Amino acid sequence: MNPTFAADPAGRPVLDLRAVARPPDLSDAPAPSPEARAVAIRTWKGRMVNEHASAQVWASLLPQAMRAAVPPALLVGLPAAASDELRHAEQCAGVVLALGGDARAPLPTLSPLPQHDDVGPLEGFLRNILSVGCLSETVAVALIRAEHAELTPGPLRELLGTILADEIQHARLGWTALGLIAPKLDAAAKARTQAYLAVALAHQIEHELPLLPVVALPDDPALPQLGVCAGADARRLFFDCVEGAILPPLAGLGFDAAGAWAEARRRAAPLAAR
Ligand SMILES: [Fe+2]
Ligand SMILES: [Fe+2]
Repeated sequence: MNPTFAADPAGRPVLDLRAVARPPDLSDAPAPSPEARAVAIRTWKGRMVNEHASAQVWASLLPQAMRAAVPPALLVGLPAAASDELRHAEQCAGVVLALGGDARAPLPTLSPLPQHDDVGPLEGFLRNILSVGCLSETVAVALIRAEHAELTPGPLRELLGTILADEIQHARLGWTALGLIAPKLDAAAKARTQAYLAVALAHQIEHELPLLPVVALPDDPALPQLGVCAGADARRLFFDCVEGAILPPLAGLGFDAAGAWAEARRRAAPLAAR
């Protein structure tokens, strides 16, 4: 099948991964009810679109990092991460197909990554790698790790395991970059980064929590075996991850992480209620 370049009736481009997706063999997975199958298809299709959007984010970091003369050892990780995310989108599309779904979805508007032109290139890059690598990817690791833990051994567990391994590398890249650059900030840049931290954490709340809605799932034991977690559990995990895995290393780098988190929760209220 040749790739198509289509748009939906509203004129939005349609991401069509039918030609490249390879469906995993789910014949040993428990058969879901029609309602549970529909939820699983919707979930994996949402992941397909999110992974595609993540590729754009990592790709946009490259020119900014190059302008900031970031060392090559870090630079090469950026296009590699973009390529990983494109592969993840294809893997998620494969699961959609295996579940009997259609691996096409209208693409939401992919807003460009902020360039932070009010500060120098290295400080601007630091903000973005902090938001993308340290925050988003660390949250992704926690959520995917939990879904992975629910799965019994089989092709879907293997597939999610490969995605998880990549997301761990993406988070590592973020923390490595932050650990190298943050100590080089002068006092003024450190204060600006501290203020930005609250903005970035608030963005996490505003961006992540709507993706984890607390809606009643069909009562079907097949669902966790298809990689679908209850939204309420995922939300708890989000807060545990920020407070247990993200704030401590930020504090270790000399940021007032607890103060930034409190400020972020004020900014993002009422979404930020646990
Ligand atoms: Fe990914
Ligand atoms: Fe990632």
